[in-house]
Amino acid sequence: NMKEIPLNRTLDDSIFLLLEGYPYMQKRCHKYDTDIFQTRLFGKKTICISGKDAAKVFYDNKFFVRKGVAPKRIQNTLLGKNGVQALDGKAHQNRKDMFISIMTPENIQKLVQYTKEQYLYNSIRWHNRNIILFDEVQKLLCQVACKWAGVPLNYDEIEQRATDLGKMIDGFGAIGPRYLEGKCARKRSEEWIGNIIDKIRSQKLTPEKGSAADIIAWYYDQRGKLLDTQIAAVELLNIVRPIVAIATYITFGAVAMYKYPRSRKKLQKNNEDYQWMFSEEVRRLYPFTPFVGAKVRKNFIWKQYYFKKGTLVMLDIYGINHDVRLWENPYEFIPERFSKPIDDIYLFMPQGGGDYKKGHRCAGELVTVEIMKASFDFIANNLEYQVPKQNLKIRLSRIPTLPKSGFRMEKVNRFV
Ligand code: HEM
Repeated sequence: NMKEIPLNRTLDDSIFLLLEGYPYMQKRCHKYDTDIFQTRLFGKKTICISGKDAAKVFYDNKFFVRKGVAPKRIQNTLLGKNGVQALDGKAHQNRKDMFISIMTPENIQKLVQYTKEQYLYNSIRWHNRNIILFDEVQKLLCQVACKWAGVPLNYDEIEQRATDLGKMIDGFGAIGPRYLEGKCARKRSEEWIGNIIDKIRSQKLTPEKGSAADIIAWYYDQRGKLLDTQIAAVELLNIVRPIVAIATYITFGAVAMYKYPRSRKKLQKNNEDYQWMFSEEVRRLYPFTPFVGAKVRKNFIWKQYYFKKGTLVMLDIYGINHDVRLWENPYEFIPERFSKPIDDIYLFMPQGGGDYKKGHRCAGELVTVEIMKASFDFIANNLEYQVPKQNLKIRLSRIPTLPKSGFRMEKVNRFV
């Protein structure tokens, strides 16, 4: 007793995906009143799924693999080649264990400490000036990430490295010049980090024990071999790059503080629980990850729908974050909805779902939230600023997106 997967009848839907961006899947799910539809994207038959049940099946390693999923466009910019994201089974577990071994409570505490110090230090230059928050935080987080990861960074390098890491993130949803810039940025960054891996292995450089650079440079894979220099570089960049990407969430958070002054007031009460709720709501409401992809491992049936081996399947992260069945008033900013932690690993998943130790869920979720908390605390409690008229529009058609102005702050007053 099988059902046909609703078919989105166009020759190829890529143009609509590019035009519509984040709500692409949600719109079609609403139109066909379904959590599943089939289409063609970039020449490939693709099944799109949404909702909590879909997340559950998508993150079951029995049914899906990641090998050969990420298109060249995304490998050349965001992810690189041969990294953890494209591994399955034992090889994935071995590599994932490496990332998890970096995320110790002591290491995360150190990272929070570095973040706070870097705000105190960098903001000296913001005093009495006008700044674009996104640009400043991107540089700041590049400094923090490198210091924490054990990657040396000269003062005169900060701008270039931060910009390159930003371009790798910005380039993945693009075609044309933005894509090409992302690709060049990845090439330069892999050379930079590859050199550092070589220097560590030839003992010309000794990063702190237990830092990401130390762990990754000396990590043995499941066959007892050190990682290729290129792969080690990709993986060390898988630590540094996404820390820089948190600048996007911090910019969204600054917009939220501006649009909902009451939430800014609450952040001024130095309540860590509220900092956390505020950060979670920023990760839910504002668009960052649009969808994640996987391939069917072997033929199976889900809810009477047939999934054929090798088919590309995309899970609607944006849609799940704004699903009315899961969130009351999903388009409103209500940090209090997180007053009780959500322990369902398939419900709140802005950075991927399931068990992060066993599956592909983001390895850096705790890092992300801790850096957000420290940042919002600093912005709300140590900075006064005027918000001039500017374009704060968040274009959903652009992947990845950002408030257009990057959040301009005028007459910044820093007090500590
Ligand atoms: C994986 C989002 C921050 C390290 C992922 C995935 C998403 C994601 C969507 C893939 C989930 C999947 O394939 O099912 C984000 C967002 C971040 C962020 C929006 C906020 C800026 C971080 C940070 C780190 C990190 C700070 C490390 C310090 C990783 C790694 C993976 C990953 C290593 C690969 C996991 C695997 O394939 O097993 N992230 N991430 N991410 N993330 Fe993050």
